Amino acid sequence: MPDGFLGTRGSLMIDVVFVAMFLVLPVLYWSIYTARVGRHYPFHKRLQLTLGIVLLVAVSAFELEMRLFGWQHRAELSPYWRAGRWNDVVDGSLAVHLACAIPTFFIWVAVIVRAVRTFPRPAAPNTHSGSHRMWGWMAAIGMTLTATTGWVFYWLAFVASPI
Ligand code: HEM
Repeated sequence: MPDGFLGTRGSLMIDVVFVAMFLVLPVLYWSIYTARVGRHYPFHKRLQLTLGIVLLVAVSAFELEMRLFGWQHRAELSPYWRAGRWNDVVDGSLAVHLACAIPTFFIWVAVIVRAVRTFPRPAAPNTHSGSHRMWGWMAAIGMTLTATTGWVFYWLAFVASPI
């Protein structure tokens, strides 16, 4: 896999996902704002479906690259890295990141599938609103934690250098 464009040890795909999360979070909160304050529900729906598809494509490509090429060789220069599995700070931060990312993935799928099935077309509030608001916020908080823990992992593995 080619090196990334950020000048760190990250690969191209790792850098793409790292930067993409800086765009995903503002769009996500803007989308929630359009539902909460603007009440532009069809626009909120379109933004969320677009985000969902973009994230699914990016995460699938990322997963494929990780399975095929791995990332460990890129972290070897990190002072937080030790050879072996689950025995250093880099692996610990990855475990925290995965503990956020995996539940968040399933919450997103459930929120989108239930919203598309249950809200009327064009999208508008109904009896599903209460549940959607609660799980929608869970999904948003989960994505925020996934992004922040991902950035921490990125720094520990691909940026930090021995002094
Ligand atoms: C993962 C995707 C989604 C997330 C994270 C999300 C998040 C949210 C959140 C947090 C709210 C509540 C805002 C508030 O505090 O008032 C909300 C409201 C709403 N969302 Fe979503 N949403 C998602 C997908 C969708 C989809 C696909 C639809 C339509 C099919 C939709 C339709 C609505 C509607 C109609 C409301 C207004 C509910 C009400 O206040 O009665 N959402 N969404």
